[in-house]
Amino acid sequence: MNEKKILYLDRNENQYGPSPSCIKEFITTDIKELSEYSRDYMKGFKSRLSDRLAAEYGVSEKNIILGYGGEDLLKQAVHCYVHKGDKIMIPSYSWWYYKKIADEIEGVKVEYPIVEGGDTFYYDIEGMFRVYNKHKPKLVLISSPNNPTGNRLEPQQLGQVLEVMKDTVVVLDEAYSLFFNGDKSHLGELITIFPNLLIIRTFSKYHALAGLRIGFALIGENHVRFSLFSSRYLGFNSLSERIAIAALDSEEYYAEVREKMASDMEMFFNEFNNLPGFKAYRSYANFILVKIPAEIKVELESFLKENGIIIKFMSEDGLNNHIRITIGRQEQNCLLMDLIRSFLKAGSLL
Ligand SMILES: Cc1ncc(COP(=O)(O)O)c(C=O)c1O
Repeated sequence: MNEKKILYLDRNENQYGPSPSCIKEFITTDIKELSEYSRDYMKGFKSRLSDRLAAEYGVSEKNIILGYGGEDLLKQAVHCYVHKGDKIMIPSYSWWYYKKIADEIEGVKVEYPIVEGGDTFYYDIEGMFRVYNKHKPKLVLISSPNNPTGNRLEPQQLGQVLEVMKDTVVVLDEAYSLFFNGDKSHLGELITIFPNLLIIRTFSKYHALAGLRIGFALIGENHVRFSLFSSRYLGFNSLSERIAIAALDSEEYYAEVREKMASDMEMFFNEFNNLPGFKAYRSYANFILVKIPAEIKVELESFLKENGIIIKFMSEDGLNNHIRITIGRQEQNCLLMDLIRSFLKAGSLL
């Protein structure tokens, strides 16, 4: 049966795909290599990828931890540091998975405010401090840029927050940061000044390697326990590592993709803000959050599905008349915008 291809713009995957060098690495890797364990530890480091990342970020190799995607590292951090009944601070609007991991260890979830203001959502820093001082949590999760709201903490705000939260474990999820800032030079300094900080990054989003399942953490000196918790003496997935290194070697390719996405982000922002009843929010990630008229929600969702496009229709409290669209390739983005416009015209809403 010839099934119609569905375009998924709902999971923040990168529709441009991995770089040509990644593909070449995949095709040319000698499969026999997979019958062996890594012997990288004999060279004094965990793996060739952690060694490369250390050079890339200007930190010592022991400050890099590899994991099975950002998801795995988030889970490991929570399981390592938080126990039943302990408090964990989570942004009010955030990736659903944060709450899920807190529930796994029967932690007490304490929400802190992300609020709407003008054309953006933002972290309410004073509100964050109030919650922090009242609850003294074991661990604070911060996401920048945040999913699904797309906002980020400015460097100066981040410094302020880390200064106040020196006495706890701070996990900063930066899964989407490379979409707006390719500069990596400040991170080494950040984990030196704040040894309680654990920064999580991933190859899934910017490098379009979600199926490879590779993420990594940059850890400050206080995280010896976490380092032991996450150590894997028999190494990592050597094929994934090779492809991830090829991705790091392909900055020109990814920078070009970033430019195209930035221009389409602007297109979406302007187009949606010109539609009656719609409101798009500023985003620093590879997705955009848009408020839509409540009365069209159900019909728009089925209309787009019938036309082969899936986007995320939000259903959580406070964001239940919102859609989150992954920025796809330019032709996909135009197709989506055209479909939404034709839906509105057919209903005489435009
Ligand atoms: C905020 C955030 N962090 C981390 C991840 C996990 O990505 P991965 O496990 O693929 O690295 C996601 C995935 O959507 C995400 O939205």
